[in-house]
Amino acid sequence: MCGIVGAIAARPVSEILLEGLRRLEYRGYDSAGMTVWDGSQIKRLRRAGKVQALGDALAETPLDGQLGIAHTRWATHGKPTENNAHPHMSGARLAVVHNGIIENYESLKRDLVARGYEFTSDTDTEVIAHLLDSAISSGASVLDAVRDCVAQLHGAFALGVMHQDYPGELITARKGSPLVIGVGIGENFIGSDPLALLQVTDRFIYLEEGDVARLRRLGIEIWNSAGESVERPVLRFEHGSGSVDKGEYKHYMLKEIYEQPRVVHAAMEGRLGAERVLEEAFGVTAPAIFDQVRQVQIVACGTSYHAGLIAKYWIEDLAGIPCMVEVASEFRYRKVVLPKGTLFISISQSGETADTLAALREVRDRILASLTICNVPGSSLVRESDLCLMTNAGPEIGVASTKAFTTQLVALLMTTLVLGRRHELTPETEARIVADLKTLPGLLEQVLGLDSAIEKMAEAFAEKQHALFLGRGTLNPVAMEGALKLKEISYIHAEAYAAGELKHGPLALVDKDMPVVTVAPRNEMLDKLKANLQEVRARGGELFVFAGSRQEVQPEEGVQVLELPPMPGILEPIVYTLPLQLLSYHVAVLKGTDVDQPRNLAKSVTVE
Ligand code: G6P
Repeated sequence: MCGIVGAIAARPVSEILLEGLRRLEYRGYDSAGMTVWDGSQIKRLRRAGKVQALGDALAETPLDGQLGIAHTRWATHGKPTENNAHPHMSGARLAVVHNGIIENYESLKRDLVARGYEFTSDTDTEVIAHLLDSAISSGASVLDAVRDCVAQLHGAFALGVMHQDYPGELITARKGSPLVIGVGIGENFIGSDPLALLQVTDRFIYLEEGDVARLRRLGIEIWNSAGESVERPVLRFEHGSGSVDKGEYKHYMLKEIYEQPRVVHAAMEGRLGAERVLEEAFGVTAPAIFDQVRQVQIVACGTSYHAGLIAKYWIEDLAGIPCMVEVASEFRYRKVVLPKGTLFISISQSGETADTLAALREVRDRILASLTICNVPGSSLVRESDLCLMTNAGPEIGVASTKAFTTQLVALLMTTLVLGRRHELTPETEARIVADLKTLPGLLEQVLGLDSAIEKMAEAFAEKQHALFLGRGTLNPVAMEGALKLKEISYIHAEAYAAGELKHGPLALVDKDMPVVTVAPRNEMLDKLKANLQEVRARGGELFVFAGSRQEVQPEEGVQVLELPPMPGILEPIVYTLPLQLLSYHVAVLKGTDVDQPRNLAKSVTVE
């Protein structure tokens, strides 16, 4: 997804901007560019492809100046070419970077073309540059031009704007797309998220919807959507900046997989009493809201959606109240019936996923309350939900989500317990699950010990085109997540099925070229699952089984079995996720793909 960085300082800014873009690479992009005011004119450099290509161009043609804006673009309108890369300019005097989508750009463009503006790109962003130029040519200041322009834009945007006649000002605005202001000493910055700016500051202002701001070296002024001057709090960034380095690991994804014992602990820290979940963790108003919950509606996308599917099993089983789960992109566009007493739970690593946010806004007036399970403090979902439970996983850089998922599951299990105690859950069961949760970090450590065996197993997948994942019960969404991980980073086509569905279709695909991965803990579904595995073996399919017991599922010709430690049943979906993450990771490494930034994918999908 597009990334924005901007700086106004008393020192050269191009290296700061470039480093900011590098730190935003994880969001996914296909071109990069920057403009810098060099004291007499705005100079621009853009490149299709990686930020490194822009860095190489900068090494050859340095941009020297103390005001600049930069951008990584994830193509939405027009191909990922240099011409479509940001910043976009109107004439030589004004440059703009934009994240988001302008829905009414075609009518705005027609109007601008009729007034003589020539377009040099296929982007929606260029209309913003020309709209600004048009207002400034009629006498408006750059600040007033931005205000005037945003009032005409429909859709989502975060903007950074610089103008030759205002070399002491960096103007920014946001509505529907993320943007933070980094507060420095004698210098100020903008960025799509704090990570982009942690190299220069750890103090941030999170702009509200509709805010416009003017940054000078020595001051920041903010106006809300009504045009009133407002103060926004300056918050210190909560994660240690060291957590965005790869450290000893070859990829962020591997580092993040290995962080899981620590971060699941962080997700529970301060939230578990001796025998119960401390519901104060959800906020002061939470108990009164939870008392009224009669059913739950979960909405999320991607990996976060899979966490929601697992939570459904827990909520219906332990709390005994109905729970619906749906992907946000469908939910937001259909007529949804929400009975009285519905708690709307959004799950999101980033807190900025456009569809999830839109779903919340869509139902806000028809629900009892909203709760978000989120990893990014200050993000839009956190700000717009009634309640939030932060997952505390720390920044997740690898596009393929790992530690965010397992910490979401911990948060959802804690949520199940606070809801359940108001319904069918007994204090004894809650106490047992709380005790089980406390064993989770140790169990995850043990599973990480299987890494080299999983690496070996991965060799069997490197040459394959397809793979099938099977699970039952709460392990069915785990299989779905395993298949998603494999396709995301290794580009092997992978599908997941509830094992009982095998004979209703996918069995037709099974042959020696179709590896079948199964998560098979020792639980009440195991016998049924074993029967499904026999169906695969009988068709010559090669099985890779992550099992709770080798006695139950024995290795033989064509059946590889990896035994996981014994564990409480409630923790199985969390713990069995790890070997599937490691399997995908090693297959991707063997295939030589870009593990942390897989092709065509973005970390944070802030447009529809
Ligand atoms: C993108 C990411 C996924 C993520 C999904 C939802 O597709 O690549 O890893 O699961 O968005 O993102 P969210 O931030 O809402 O969890």
